[in-house]
Amino acid sequence: KNIAIIMGGYSSEYEISLKSGNVVYETLDRSRYKAYRIHIFKDKWVYVDANNKEYPVNKDDFSVQLDNEKITFHCVFNAIHGSPGEDGFMQGYFELLNIPHTSCGMYQACLTFNKRDCLSVLKPYGIKTATSFYINLGDTIDEEAIVNKVGLPCFVKANKAGSSFGITKVYKKEELKAAVDTAFKEDNEIIIESFLDGTEVSVGVITYKGETKVLPITEIVSDNDFFDYKAKYLGQSKEITPARLSKMQEEKVTLLAKKIYEILKMKGFSRSEFIFKDGEPHLLEINTVPGLTKESILPQQAAVAGITLNELFNNAIEEALL
Ligand code: DAL
Ligand code: MG
Repeated sequence: KNIAIIMGGYSSEYEISLKSGNVVYETLDRSRYKAYRIHIFKDKWVYVDANNKEYPVNKDDFSVQLDNEKITFHCVFNAIHGSPGEDGFMQGYFELLNIPHTSCGMYQACLTFNKRDCLSVLKPYGIKTATSFYINLGDTIDEEAIVNKVGLPCFVKANKAGSSFGITKVYKKEELKAAVDTAFKEDNEIIIESFLDGTEVSVGVITYKGETKVLPITEIVSDNDFFDYKAKYLGQSKEITPARLSKMQEEKVTLLAKKIYEILKMKGFSRSEFIFKDGEPHLLEINTVPGLTKESILPQQAAVAGITLNELFNNAIEEALL
């Protein structure tokens, strides 16, 4: 079967996506699948062959014309973080073309990529979150109102972005303006959240052999002020799997992550971030195209569960093809 591994993307996360995509490319089971690397960038969609020769993708049917052969794909392995791979655009495109893909559905991707909307859909189910404040590009910034609502320190984040791009931890009211400007570089909507002081955990949930499976939980201990880009990708953090939680905490967050996956009717990969505050897990966000690089969390979790990368990726494709 021909598998297109899509990577790159239009956001600041493109380099991480290229790494994730290449891990998939190198790992995919060649006895079962023929793997094709497809780079998706704003200015070009191309198939990149083993010699790095590029062939344009025909967007009408997502096919590639080689010198004497036309390639069509049985399945797409989505390794694009951020837009347009994690926010619903590629999902919608492949769903229109009837090409199975390894991520969640279009609606789930749109919803989960929008932190504000995702958290507000989940709140009525009793899922706890930080206190938050939203700003759109062009709004007047009322620092007083923000601080009154979320307190200090607080986190200023792009509403739709990943890998901590655009995030600042703000300690003083005077720092808000610069933090807001930073976040607006990534998105035209901003979410400002209260600081939750507690243990941060990351919970991978996948559909594995037909069942919703929660992977071993990872505790995140950042050497930096928070789990920022450098902590994530330059080794300035410790990720401890399984997390050092009490049996009760572990059970609570496992059930919660599974419940969220099921409420949202997710499929494929997901990795949700929580912070325990007053013994209760508070949801920060859900990633539906989690990183698959050597530094990334989900592959570490799978390994602890005894699932090799090869099995993880085969399973994703098998589930997509059902
Ligand atoms: N957004 C990054 C890739 C992650 O969630 O792993
Ligand atoms: Mg994220």
